[in-house]
Amino acid sequence: AKPKVFIARKLPDEVVEKFKENMEITMWDSEEEPVDRTRLLQEAGQCDGLITMLTDRVDDELMDQGKKLKIIANMAVGYDNVDIQAADKHGIQITNTPDVLTETTADLTFTLLMAAARRIIEANEHIKEGKWENWSPLFMAGTDVHHKSIGIVGMGRIGQAVARRAKGFGMEILYHNRSRKEEAERELGASYHSFDDLLEKADYVVCLAPLTEETRGMFNQEAFKKMKSSAIFVNASRGALVDERALYEALVRGEVKAAGLDVFEKEPIDADHPLLGLDQVVCLPHIGSASTETRTAMMELCLENTWKVLNGEKPKTPVN
Ligand code: GLV
Ligand code: GLV
Repeated sequence: AKPKVFIARKLPDEVVEKFKENMEITMWDSEEEPVDRTRLLQEAGQCDGLITMLTDRVDDELMDQGKKLKIIANMAVGYDNVDIQAADKHGIQITNTPDVLTETTADLTFTLLMAAARRIIEANEHIKEGKWENWSPLFMAGTDVHHKSIGIVGMGRIGQAVARRAKGFGMEILYHNRSRKEEAERELGASYHSFDDLLEKADYVVCLAPLTEETRGMFNQEAFKKMKSSAIFVNASRGALVDERALYEALVRGEVKAAGLDVFEKEPIDADHPLLGLDQVVCLPHIGSASTETRTAMMELCLENTWKVLNGEKPKTPVN
């Protein structure tokens, strides 16, 4: 019999179709809504492989159900929703989707930086609300991007792809990372800084570090106080790296000039979230990797990883 695989979201049939030759695939029936916890637990108990989303909690309870579960392919580069220790304990292979989303996510990160700097959303709303009455010397004047300094916190693949874009804008590239990235230093002229030093020096502070116990809440009140009052903060990794209340207060007090946020502590955010009320904040609904090409590539990578493991081969992008 073919191995059984459950996908925790409705994916396009044309993407899934070609994998049905080798696997018996069922899917959750909604594209928008995450799978019911009960259904996910039940499927874990019956399947050989699961494909999960960043909205699913992949924990010990779930893996404990999976008596014959061999692989969980998480459709994201980040895997903070997955308990890796529990996966090791249960002998379950976890995979993620690096590489295929690097350039797309870097595009979005740089878009967010530019939109916050040049007040793109604010200006767009102004004109659409019929408020454009005149040209004036400092009307909608923003902040330059070119030849400023960018401080990248988390110099992984995406961080380095953002740095390549920044280099094209003549920016000075500072970075902070757990380990030195000599290639980026050599090829992009990026300079390594301690976290505090980067916060003090960078005109743009861009968060691309993964969410771990060490990075949780690292952008707190103290961090925002260290930044220049002209600094623009961008977060395209995970919301929980940021203390949102501290960011809100820093923006209101003018300790930080503006922000571009693709991710939030709790997603989706409520319509009355305080950060939504600030003109100098650009908010996006977690769309870093959301191009049709890249999301399709991520789905295919999950399906390929799943089939490889169920066929006794090594997955392309293992996490554990
Ligand atoms: C999205 O946030 C991802 O981790 O791929
Ligand atoms: C992290 O894994 C990245 O791709 O930057």
